[in-house]
Amino acid sequence: MNIGIDKMDFYTPAQYLDLVDLAQARKTDPNKYLIGIGQRQMAIPSLDQDAVVLAANAAEKILSTADRQQIGLLIVATESGVDQSKAAALFVQQLLQLSPYLRAIELKEACYGGTAGLQLARDFVAQHPQQKALVLASDIARYGLQTSGEVTQGAGAVALLVSANPRILAIAPDSVYQSQNVNDFWRPNYSQEAMARGKFSEEVYLKMFQNLWTQAQAQKLWQPADLQALLCHLPFSKMGLKAVRSLQGQLASVDYERLMRRFQASVQYGQVVGNIYTGSLYLSLISLLDHDTSLQAGDQLACYSYGSGAVAELFTGTLVAGFQEQLHPHSHQKMLAQRQRLTIAEYEAEFQQQLVTDGSAQELTQSDPTAPHYLTKVEAHQRFYV
Ligand code: HMG
Repeated sequence: MNIGIDKMDFYTPAQYLDLVDLAQARKTDPNKYLIGIGQRQMAIPSLDQDAVVLAANAAEKILSTADRQQIGLLIVATESGVDQSKAAALFVQQLLQLSPYLRAIELKEACYGGTAGLQLARDFVAQHPQQKALVLASDIARYGLQTSGEVTQGAGAVALLVSANPRILAIAPDSVYQSQNVNDFWRPNYSQEAMARGKFSEEVYLKMFQNLWTQAQAQKLWQPADLQALLCHLPFSKMGLKAVRSLQGQLASVDYERLMRRFQASVQYGQVVGNIYTGSLYLSLISLLDHDTSLQAGDQLACYSYGSGAVAELFTGTLVAGFQEQLHPHSHQKMLAQRQRLTIAEYEAEFQQQLVTDGSAQELTQSDPTAPHYLTKVEAHQRFYV
């Protein structure tokens, strides 16, 4: 039985910052951001948009009434959680009007959380083929104003509906994975911003990629000549580019060129949305399928998932007949084209806004009228959503 991604979509906030504007404000050569980092814009969330809202808005795009009844497992993978105890999935369950008879949980392991969710969902559907699992990978990447990580921020969520006989991508049961306790990137409970040993984090990302690539070859999980694309977790597009480039010399040039060409299609959305942590690898999957019309049913794609801390996994999926009918490139282009460009002053003001933490009431206004869900208020230390 094939199990995998039956439907998928993404949501990103309605405001963005152009990185040439950021470079000018930070007195940096724009080419450092555009070429050296490989990013063009980044999504800027408003105060009414947290990880719950982003997740619900992504999921709303794909769910039919029947899906809502068939989902037996709801996973929100995030490192931008809104509560230390209650799962973000419970807010989302209500917003999406899902069945009460499901398991609703929140998962965390940095950017790897989305893949952990997908693999758990796969196992769940293998045991319960009549049911579906909804995986929502939702995050706001915040490093702080005037930090070296500032240019690699972003916000958004990807929704993956996992089922038997999927209509987009069948996920292979065998993969290679690795975990290792390292301090390359982390966010203590008391901090709103992530902390990173930037260059070291790049090294760990690449080392784990090479290690897993070598293991996959040793286990003959696939032949490089059969791989039609290699998708990577994209904290910024240059990071994934370094992973693909590391295969030069290890692959026949025809294989290397094919992977490199498809990699360029896979970074189009990430370059204008920024890092969305848990959802970033899956945003690159959506980007590839929206931009490369030469892919066909039966094509095998490799996916490299990396979460700081660190856990990494290399797995493959096979495109299913008719997958093109499940894609929504026009609505994605419309969502991105409709976004409002912020000035540096507006971005910095937005960045510094915070919800009250003293238990008083705070009403919020809807920043994106095209999206159904937002945070309406906080009161008595509780969040209320529409
Ligand atoms: P930096 O100090 O700005 O880096 O930090 P830099 O000065 O080395 O410049 C970056 C690149 O731009 C270099 O290229 C320069 O040569 C180039 P590279 O050596 O990397 O190939 N450059 C130029 N290129 C063209 N024209 C110019 C120019 N000037 C310089 N004029 C860093 C960069 C990424 C480290 C920083 O932004 C950072 O700390 N980001 C956050 C951490 C991060 O994203 N790490 C990635 C791996 S860890 C990961 O992926 C997990 C994560 O998503 C979190 C999670 O798992 O939850 C982050």
